[in-house]
Amino acid sequence: MKPVPLWVDCDPGIDDVLALMYLCGRRDVEWIGISTVHGNVDATRGATNALVALETARGPSVPVLIGVDRPLVHWSPVAEDEHGRNGLGDVVVVAPRQRPTAGLGPVQLARAAAARPGELVVLALGPLTNLAVALLIDPDLPRNVRELYIMGGAVHVPGNTTPAAEFNIWHDPEAAHVVLSAPWAATLVSLDVTEQALLEGEYWNALEAAQGAKARLAALMLARWVEARRIRTGRAAAGLHDPVAAAIALAPTLAEYETTPVRVDVSQGPDRGRTSAAPDSLGFPVRCATRLDRERFLADFMTQITSP
Ligand code: RIB
Ligand code: CA
Repeated sequence: MKPVPLWVDCDPGIDDVLALMYLCGRRDVEWIGISTVHGNVDATRGATNALVALETARGPSVPVLIGVDRPLVHWSPVAEDEHGRNGLGDVVVVAPRQRPTAGLGPVQLARAAAARPGELVVLALGPLTNLAVALLIDPDLPRNVRELYIMGGAVHVPGNTTPAAEFNIWHDPEAAHVVLSAPWAATLVSLDVTEQALLEGEYWNALEAAQGAKARLAALMLARWVEARRIRTGRAAAGLHDPVAAAIALAPTLAEYETTPVRVDVSQGPDRGRTSAAPDSLGFPVRCATRLDRERFLADFMTQITSP
């Protein structure tokens, strides 16, 4: 099967780094570019961490471009509590050899899509600020992009940042509204499915026992999340939000879907950032993942992350 021409927009961040390392192991990916956005960390730190992920995974040389370093309208802080000051769970790593590529993420994303109309698959793993700016730069972007996969939202389940909202949408709801209202072939991979694939039990033990560089970095970063969730809920487990979205982008049959327009709450109240199915609205339909083949995903993820 022909490799997927892939652009990843992300805010690395612990699970973004896991997703990038997972993708580095997949032979069905043709890397086009990576852009970073303000979210878990600032966009510059995100670019450094994306390069850490690529070099730890001994992946290909991929252009990493720094993107927009603040939400579109209202300021929102980075997620230091969740991802640590360095965005890697405060795990100390060797600085990457490569440096970010000159240019602005959204501009280069729009150019890459226009250069290969109808071919690019875009995977958005952070707040949607870069995607919104790219849309404003080039209104033809939805036509140029073959498919857009978004890790974000919480449609029929509670949020993880407020009871109403998931982090990527909550961090920049105005950008999410612009993106989810546009005429793409868009798939939303929300907490409704990513929370179905927690890393725990035998999978966690196997990761801790693995000796490769990817597995060791993953285990060191995820230890923070496993312990935090154990204290919070009594369940020693870690969410793999971005790797789930990455796996679905390459194998959509991993999930089941409902297709509906999606409404984003952009108010300043307690519902800010809520994503709701809006079947009666006139918005463009979004394919929303509702169910994940957990075992198939975890087997694939573990194979990639524990390989040397
Ligand atoms: O809510 C989970 C999402 O927010 C993930 O993409 C994580 O990296 C954070 O950005
Ligand atoms: Ca992310």
